[in-house]
Amino acid sequence: MKKYIHKIKSALDLEELEKLRIEVFGKKGVLATSFAKLKTLANEEKKSYAGELNSLKQELTKVFNAKKDNLLKEHTQKLMQKEGVDVTLFDAACESGALHPVQATMDKIIDYFLNMNYEIQEGPLVEDDFHNFEALNLPQFHPARDMQDTFYFKDSMLLRTHTSPVQIRTMLSKKPPIRVISPGAVFRKDLDLTHTPQFHQVEGLVVEEGDKVSFSNLKFILEDFLTYMFGDVKVRFRPSFFPFTEPSAEVDISCIFCKGAGCRVCSHTGWLEVLGCGMVDPNVYQAVGYENVSGFAFGLGVERFAMLLHKIPDLRSLYEGDLRLLEQFK
Ligand code: DAH
Repeated sequence: MKKYIHKIKSALDLEELEKLRIEVFGKKGVLATSFAKLKTLANEEKKSYAGELNSLKQELTKVFNAKKDNLLKEHTQKLMQKEGVDVTLFDAACESGALHPVQATMDKIIDYFLNMNYEIQEGPLVEDDFHNFEALNLPQFHPARDMQDTFYFKDSMLLRTHTSPVQIRTMLSKKPPIRVISPGAVFRKDLDLTHTPQFHQVEGLVVEEGDKVSFSNLKFILEDFLTYMFGDVKVRFRPSFFPFTEPSAEVDISCIFCKGAGCRVCSHTGWLEVLGCGMVDPNVYQAVGYENVSGFAFGLGVERFAMLLHKIPDLRSLYEGDLRLLEQFK
């Protein structure tokens, strides 16, 4: 019966092994018939024979299981070779692309604020008058609405002209503390060297109970953010006006082209305007039913950041899909 150890070890495939299993371990197999023989033996003989049989059975089982494992592995390997796809195979015809510079810039901006524990909050592109204007302290006949040439639908619906309406949606849907950014597309009736009808903004909003949030918090985060984006630049805050913030400021960085000496890009001022910000106006809090809170908001144009980062002279070229431009971003 020892020959079966050798037979099992040299089985060529699972089929052969299965035949051996029946031959050895089956109901009428050699083990079963050997054990049956025990009955016919005298007591003395029975003992030693049974011992031998049992250890032989153990060995056969061990050898059988090991062989089965091996053959199974071989079998799957063969199958994989036959049917598998070689994902490492090089296809010369397939060139990899790259992120569009606006998307890459957006991702870089978002990364900064996610690291600072801001959450992402999105809002609809088709907005109503209340969220886009009214609640942001831009009442119907307010002259500041002239700043934005709006695409209107029927029933006072419109394509949002900025990401600021997401501030309103956020404050209406939850209580402070709030720390969010709202990235996304915005729309204005505009088309020239520095304007396209669709572009992208990132809005920021931080609100806390009481008077915890001050202008210095706003200054710190924006200075840190702009240094992260543009490297070693000077940052300055200029008093300005936005209906939804009070006080409001526009933020400039020292010109990254001429290092502040004055050039065509910065209109010989040495400074580039990069975003708007301020402390949230009390009228905005009133519109969303907030009391006894403090907070700041800011908004920036992603295309402008992309143009500055990559020294792209004409905004429209970002949307022409010209491969000669896009290939430079691989
Ligand atoms: N919504 C402004 C725009 O579209 C940008 C902006 C300025 C957003 C100041 C703000 C802010 O939150 O505080 O031009």
